[in-house]
Amino acid sequence: MRAALALLAAATALSAVPASARDDVTHKICSPNERLCFTLTTADEIPTYSVTRDGKPVIAPSRLGFMLRGDGKFEHSTALGEASFAQADTRWEQPWGENRWVRDHYREMRVPIVELIGGKRRIDLIARVFDDGVGFRFAFPDQPNLKDVRIDEELTEFTIAGEAEAWWITAGEWNRYEFLYNRTPAKQVGTAHTPISFRRKDDSLHIAIHEAALVDYSAFWLQRIDGQRFRTRLSPSSDGWKVRRAAPFETPWRTILIADDAPKLYAASDIILNLNEPNKLGDVSWVKPQKYIGIWWAMHLDQSSWHSGPKHGATTANTIRHIDFAAKHGFDAVLVEGWNVGWDGNWIGDHGRNFNFAQAYPDFDMDRVAAHAKVKGVAIMGHHETAGNSGLYAEQLEAAMDYYAKHGVPSVKTGYVADAGGVLHKDAAGKEIWDWHDGQWQVRHHLEVVLAAAKRRIAINAHEPVKDTGLRRTYPNWVSREGAKGMEYQAWGDPPNPPEHEPTLVFTRMLSGPMDFTPGIVSLTGKGGREIPSTLARQLANFVVIYSPVQMAADLPENYDKHPAAFEFIKRVPADWEQSRVLAGAIGDYAVFARQRRGGQDWYVGGVTDEAAREVTLDFAFLPKGKTFAAKIWRDGPGGGVGGDRFAMTVEEKKVTAATKWPIRMEAGGGFAIVLTPVR
Ligand code: NOJ
Ligand code: CA
Repeated sequence: MRAALALLAAATALSAVPASARDDVTHKICSPNERLCFTLTTADEIPTYSVTRDGKPVIAPSRLGFMLRGDGKFEHSTALGEASFAQADTRWEQPWGENRWVRDHYREMRVPIVELIGGKRRIDLIARVFDDGVGFRFAFPDQPNLKDVRIDEELTEFTIAGEAEAWWITAGEWNRYEFLYNRTPAKQVGTAHTPISFRRKDDSLHIAIHEAALVDYSAFWLQRIDGQRFRTRLSPSSDGWKVRRAAPFETPWRTILIADDAPKLYAASDIILNLNEPNKLGDVSWVKPQKYIGIWWAMHLDQSSWHSGPKHGATTANTIRHIDFAAKHGFDAVLVEGWNVGWDGNWIGDHGRNFNFAQAYPDFDMDRVAAHAKVKGVAIMGHHETAGNSGLYAEQLEAAMDYYAKHGVPSVKTGYVADAGGVLHKDAAGKEIWDWHDGQWQVRHHLEVVLAAAKRRIAINAHEPVKDTGLRRTYPNWVSREGAKGMEYQAWGDPPNPPEHEPTLVFTRMLSGPMDFTPGIVSLTGKGGREIPSTLARQLANFVVIYSPVQMAADLPENYDKHPAAFEFIKRVPADWEQSRVLAGAIGDYAVFARQRRGGQDWYVGGVTDEAAREVTLDFAFLPKGKTFAAKIWRDGPGGGVGGDRFAMTVEEKKVTAATKWPIRMEAGGGFAIVLTPVR
């Protein structure tokens, strides 16, 4: 408090100085290794920041500001107050994750931005500079002229320096985050979701823009203004303004990852976690990574249904059959979709108004299923599809979570199937209101669900979610989410996801956090017998390449019975890691990952390629020196690949050490998977 007052005093003193007598104040903070620098100025009395690397521009001078309802624009006629500085170098442990340990190493600068005229309002900028990226946010201090803050727009700009290419999906459109990625010159981006990744033409510098700690605020879309100049456009709200908060408060962090290549860009994404608050839930040993199967793919194939009737999937007998299969093969859980009333008729068109989250269909005996699961040592993964009717779900939330808690269900997949802008809730008078999947109202809703679940030791995996901004650090029961085109598009998508999809996802969407992609369709066959453009080995690779602590083996049990060689890998691969490395990759082309089992000595390597067959050299230098490992390899066989025999797979065994280097070939749309176990 005293520090804040001192800053305010400094700012007030500054504002008293006539403009003619003042120099533009410039404040600068550089990364611990001094290579990345963030500079803030008020050239022309407009707050402007820039980012350099080794003295060369990465983000060219870019404006900052807000459109505030009733108070006008906050941008012109501003000056900077006195800066305060801080730094940290700590290490924290993830309860589950891609890496057990995360280093948080940065320098921080806080600078008041004050108006010289009018209301003399003040907004502080807080910037943290890491060796591989920058985060900055705005703090709205408590002040007489800015209390009930209604933000019509945030005017944070990002001008990418140097001609660049971009990988992005369109924002503000009907299918939320479920679009195929565009690869275009940066100057042809429209309005994009984040993370958006850029690669500079001359020096291959990789830059990704996103946000961290999206709490009680609206997500931003990145809208191109002109050239390579972008600005934040906040997701809309039914209120008219986009965000309403009472000061004091802080905005989410705006993040810029900066790296030499795609693998380093992925590694830099720890920044997103570091900018989130530490765990607020206390003991979270009850949050368990899970590998699961489910009553799921059959519905997407239209072989069974969510709704009641002769094709109903979630019957007691079918669930018990799945539990027995899971127990036999060592899976932790069985997802059961379509168990509760409300799916009959057009549940999407009717916006889920008939869902009841505590009432099962008559042919689904929850008590019996739960008792059987318990005996077999398998968990049920619950399911709450809302069709975007978050209001109805919120009304039933306590009852819905109590129902699952009573039946010992430790995790719930939620769903918000509705077009963008189709999140339904009611005002105090009972009038229906429509909001966005990534607006402030829904952002609050997600956290409400996560907290209600946490109270009962239940984990949440949200589909049709808001984008991930690293909140798993603060709320470790928010284990995964969808938020991109996943495997379901291989069942019925028109077109299906092309082979370049996963090597693009890894260096865009996956920078934000885990994805419930639901890999492992070993039948390589979608609805009505359509061919999935992938290979058998590639289906295995995805378990390593696409991270999620809840990892589904998505195919039908009978299909796994038909592919025992592939199934062996799926049974062995873990869903929780001690450490992870990106060995090689290029956005949209290919990606190779190595991950070590949490608490174990065994390593797993996975590689995926786009439509081009390619050979990569595997360098096993990540293994501990002086030890021999037995490698079991599942790779595309001769004549394999999309367009060839997608099922052709060579399984072989070899010995490797840290000194081994191997060429390994991936056929078109293919990949490989390897298990490495130490030899005694
Ligand atoms: C869409 C989800 O992504 C999918 O996994 C789920 O089966 C359906 N919604 C029904 O809830
Ligand atoms: Ca979906």
